[in-house]
Amino acid sequence: MTTLIINIKELLQVRDAAILKVSGAEMAVLPTINNAYLVIQNELISDFGSMEDLPNINPEKCIDADGKIVLPAWCDSHTHIVYAGNREQEFVDRINGLTYEEIASLGGGILNSAKKLNETSEKELYDQSKIRLEEVMRLGTGAVEIKSGYGLTVEGELKMLRVIHRLAQNYPITIKATFLGAHAFPSEFKENHQGYIDLIINEMLPAIAKEKLAEFIDVFCEIGYFTVAETQQILKAGIAFGLKPKIHVNQFNSIGGIQVGVQQEALSVDHLEVMTTNDIESLKNTATMPVALPSCSYFLSIPYAPAREMIEAGLPIAIATDYNPGSTPSGNMNFVVATACIKMKMTPEEAINAATINGAYAMGISDTHGSITIGKKANLILTQPIPSYYQLPYAFGSNLIDTVFIEGEIVA
Ligand code: NIG
Ligand code: FE
Repeated sequence: MTTLIINIKELLQVRDAAILKVSGAEMAVLPTINNAYLVIQNELISDFGSMEDLPNINPEKCIDADGKIVLPAWCDSHTHIVYAGNREQEFVDRINGLTYEEIASLGGGILNSAKKLNETSEKELYDQSKIRLEEVMRLGTGAVEIKSGYGLTVEGELKMLRVIHRLAQNYPITIKATFLGAHAFPSEFKENHQGYIDLIINEMLPAIAKEKLAEFIDVFCEIGYFTVAETQQILKAGIAFGLKPKIHVNQFNSIGGIQVGVQQEALSVDHLEVMTTNDIESLKNTATMPVALPSCSYFLSIPYAPAREMIEAGLPIAIATDYNPGSTPSGNMNFVVATACIKMKMTPEEAINAATINGAYAMGISDTHGSITIGKKANLILTQPIPSYYQLPYAFGSNLIDTVFIEGEIVA
């Protein structure tokens, strides 16, 4: 099947295959072809260029994109899309004055979601989660990472990872699975942290590795959750089972999690709302991608990751949704891009780079996703007619998407 898109007003994020991420000042550049065509062959981008060089081909399908923009589909490198029920009550409790941390210390938060998840069947969990996955595909996301971490029991964690696996089999969107058993200590292990860590290391990890259910290992390294030493112990165990670290750090406090992440060669360190100069220094000249989660800051009214300081220090940044029932009940990458511009003072070019090529890097897929490159997946957003790509973050409340392609197929 060949699809030809012609008269594209701006074809954004045209990159050489060798570019796997962009850092510092490079993030300000968004390579673009004006008045372009693009050819999709089966599930891949097979050709593109200026309309002046339009090849003479006979496609099965031709789309006239007059006045419209084409860019790579969003790469959302941090989500918790598989969960049971919701936490609407905690949302209202926060409006009435409780903080996220106070709710957690009263037994709400992650433990509330874990209770719901363990009471929900695998089939019901799949049915609830697929609705969210279908929604984010329609919103322009073409690749997504999904974490476990609301089971906190051997059976619960396996149930979540099996649901992620089934979603990956049944949908064209690329899905990467992360094991986050170290998301919180279950109440029965409140006074016995090593007991729960032993359960993760001796029971969860071997079962996950046996069924090949995850590629990454995550830990919530934070005061009241996992200490730096516990994080290190769990990451090392995950690495021994072939999993690559991607961790939650510096959401509320800077306690040394970034340094452990870098030391363990984490693919990404995520959240980063609270960053010291030393934290920024530690990330320089490493292979670890800093990931900011602007809609989490928005929803919880907590600081935003200091994107300007990080970019000016020469670091790359990716942005992701963190879609989860507690801190970010939204999987809308368009809102994330807009919020990165509006609240973090990232330019439209920086935000689009952060949500495409750098997001792909943070999932280990930037050789196949995240840019307009021959041979990469035909995961594309075709916008409505708009004056320029500035409109994407500027008109932050509008849906400017006309069509989403995932693996060359139009998402209904
Ligand atoms: O990334 N911070 C830790 N974990 C999730 C939220 C967990 C929850 O509240 O359910 C996050 O924000
Ligand atoms: Fe998260």
